[in-house]
Amino acid sequence: MDDDTPPFFYVMNYASEAEGDVIDMVSGNPDWEPPEALREGLREYADAETDQFQYPPSVGLRELREEIAKRRGVDISQVIITNGAGEANHLAMAGGLEAVDGNEIILADPVYPYYDGRTSLLDAEKTLIPVDKDGHLNPETVHKRASEETAVIVVNSPNNPMGVTYDGDAIEQLLGVAEEYDALLVSDEVYDHFDYSGRFTSALSFDSPNRIVTNSFSKSMAVTGWRVGYAIFPREDRPAPYNELVDSARTRHMLTNVAISRPAQASVLRALRETDPSYYEAVREQMVERIDRFTSALDAAGAEYTEPEGSFYVMARFPGLPGTMENIEMLIDEAGVAGMPGEAFGDSRSDWMRFALVSPRVEEAAQRLAEFFE
Ligand SMILES: Cc1ncc(COP(=O)(O)O)c(C=O)c1O
Repeated sequence: MDDDTPPFFYVMNYASEAEGDVIDMVSGNPDWEPPEALREGLREYADAETDQFQYPPSVGLRELREEIAKRRGVDISQVIITNGAGEANHLAMAGGLEAVDGNEIILADPVYPYYDGRTSLLDAEKTLIPVDKDGHLNPETVHKRASEETAVIVVNSPNNPMGVTYDGDAIEQLLGVAEEYDALLVSDEVYDHFDYSGRFTSALSFDSPNRIVTNSFSKSMAVTGWRVGYAIFPREDRPAPYNELVDSARTRHMLTNVAISRPAQASVLRALRETDPSYYEAVREQMVERIDRFTSALDAAGAEYTEPEGSFYVMARFPGLPGTMENIEMLIDEAGVAGMPGEAFGDSRSDWMRFALVSPRVEEAAQRLAEFFE
């Protein structure tokens, strides 16, 4: 692997070129159906008038923003439709760094690699705080490490890659740290529909100007390729500098994207309005079943793992097989299972491996691992 290849692409490539049959547990791409209304919305869009094929408002379709604002209990002026949660996170982190004093971004280790890369891209000072033994970032540790230099604290709940979910107390405490240091809490809630613990609490539940919430439909509607997400900024009647965040994000968004695809937004809107909660419940149930089968096999393989409370990921550590890239290659070649090396997510779980449960073949994968470690 050369230094410029992101580990994710390297593993995908290695797995696709491997000789035998390999079960892909690398990506975060859902393998299940999107809501039916989403497919219908896209079909219908093909026959729309030509004016519906032209530029939408830069901040997003008004009706979609209204629908999101209503569901999230915020004002429509706070909502910007983005190119997935990826762009939403970028607007939040870049905007936070620009608006408040300090140049430090605090991240959990293990870290979702895009936060790490974006922190470097933005020339910010990076502080990675190792998660506790149970996989959570401890708000008290964050409090001890934060200072006047801190501009942004990023939390992702339910979490990639640890599979944990933060409860309301933890989010409130992290928000308290942001408030104490005039910083911003960026809460990435892209897996909010995938909480199996019942403890998920959105940062929107707390009234504070020191938070930006990001989300998308990539995972909840199984459409990572559609690129529709959103960010919710502090209201414009909040004190400075928080009141300015939404406007500077509108500018940054417009200058980099112009706008987000109209058909994608329109069909997401239709799906939001017409999809019954049972769709999300069924997907969650499927994931709980997969977690159960996979972790039973991990038990059989003598592996240590964090009990998944949310998201699609299981971090596991196998006896005598640290999560290096070489060992990931070995598991691909000899067990026919592709995961991600823990070292791709920072230092604190570098001897672990991450498996994404986005394949109908998780049971088979688990059996292959159990047999390999027998
Ligand atoms: C924690 C986290 N945030 C953001 C994203 C990106 O989401 P989107 O496809 O909406 O840009 C992912 C995708 O895997 C993710 O795991």
